[in-house]
Amino acid sequence: MMEPYKIKAVEPIPTTTRRKRERLIREAGYNVFNLAAEHVTVDLLTDSGTSAMSDRQWSRLMVGDESFAGSRSFFRLQKTVREIFGYRHLIPVHQARAAEHLLFTALVKPGDVVPSNMFFDTTRANVEHRGGRTVDLVIQEAYDPRCDYPFKGNIDLKRLHRLLDTESPERLPLAVLTITNNNGGGQPVSLANITEASKLLTAKGIPLYFDACRFAENAFFIKERERDQAQSSIAEIVAKIFACGQGCLVSAKKDGLANMGGFLATQNEKLAERVKEMLLLIEGFPTFGGLAGRDMEVMAVGFREVIDERYLSFRIGQVRELGEKLLAAGIPVLLPFGGHAVYVDAKAFLPHVPAEQFPASALSAALYVEAGVRAAEVGSLSGSHRDPESGQTVNPAMELLRLSVPRRVYTSAHLDVAVEALKKIYRRREKLRGLKVVHKGEILGHFTARLEVL
Ligand SMILES: Cc1ncc(COP(=O)(O)O)c(C=O)c1O
Repeated sequence: MMEPYKIKAVEPIPTTTRRKRERLIREAGYNVFNLAAEHVTVDLLTDSGTSAMSDRQWSRLMVGDESFAGSRSFFRLQKTVREIFGYRHLIPVHQARAAEHLLFTALVKPGDVVPSNMFFDTTRANVEHRGGRTVDLVIQEAYDPRCDYPFKGNIDLKRLHRLLDTESPERLPLAVLTITNNNGGGQPVSLANITEASKLLTAKGIPLYFDACRFAENAFFIKERERDQAQSSIAEIVAKIFACGQGCLVSAKKDGLANMGGFLATQNEKLAERVKEMLLLIEGFPTFGGLAGRDMEVMAVGFREVIDERYLSFRIGQVRELGEKLLAAGIPVLLPFGGHAVYVDAKAFLPHVPAEQFPASALSAALYVEAGVRAAEVGSLSGSHRDPESGQTVNPAMELLRLSVPRRVYTSAHLDVAVEALKKIYRRREKLRGLKVVHKGEILGHFTARLEVL
């Protein structure tokens, strides 16, 4: 397996001593989000906004049209979005959560119900911020880290059917399919499942929107795993996916191969007009949203580069190789490996640390101390919620440590640093202790939370 690109610019990687890292993680409240990047050696915290741009993307920076109104760069991006995603109306934003805010503000009223396969943190928070209720309907297999079902991002069609039968359509303003399902392990949704879900929703007049941050990776899995799609090109599969919905919100920081940017796209003209008014209020003029012209140029190139099959084959292969090395070392990992990340099963790794003591956060801190590798907690720190009826804290089904692989940034040798470190920690895993929260904010509090070792 060979990188399908040459490396043209390099950036030095910081190194630190173990002693220093022990101090730094303590000062960071055992939350790797609080660390300065200059103290991180291999940064697998996120694949968001961390891609390396291509020479073609860098060259477009000079071409960006920075006109306030009617920028050429907007029309170039609009053409790209229409060709690849098939949606007519484009609303550029600085990143996807602004698109979430705009879409849900326009559609969701207090008391509404919004079903999904599984919401990502910010999409969920934006629905709830509007007083809406989010319902995750991902298939049961998604909650079993050892089950290697090929489309663990699928929505459970029976449960969707039941929800559509029990809730009044006025209470259901839209449904969201997250492709790939980040919080469920970067798992894809099959085209067959998307098609069926779309039929059920259309029959009730409920629009389907995609949270399509990793649409190209999802399309690659469809080509690889869904037999009747093996002969289709990635572009054809992408077109088939989006033809099932009425619009999408996209973070260009993932499959846009850009460091910043995103958009909302829709077929619904009235909605687009309403959203553009709000865009003026919070982001900017409709032909730039929250972006510079050059950012839109970079996105337009990125969306074309990402649907290249050679690129995707290497990308998915590199993540898979990381997962296979961990699996071969006996480290419990979520199967199958995700598109953008490998998720270590922290519950199985640290069975003596209960969810209330944040095993994935404890593992994340240990990984940083061991080798300066940063990875993200996807477990009870970020995913627990209070049950509105009982008032009890409900922890998520899985405790995961997500090793996200930035696009076109690291080689196998870099990823091996994480593998070797996790092997060492696994050998002395009984010694690891849980954590307790000493500070956590109300909204998306895990990003800035501070913890202490128990
Ligand atoms: C599935 C999913 N949806 C939405 C978002 C939010 O995107 P952004 O960071 O551009 O606001 C993310 C970011 O990680 C994501 O993974």
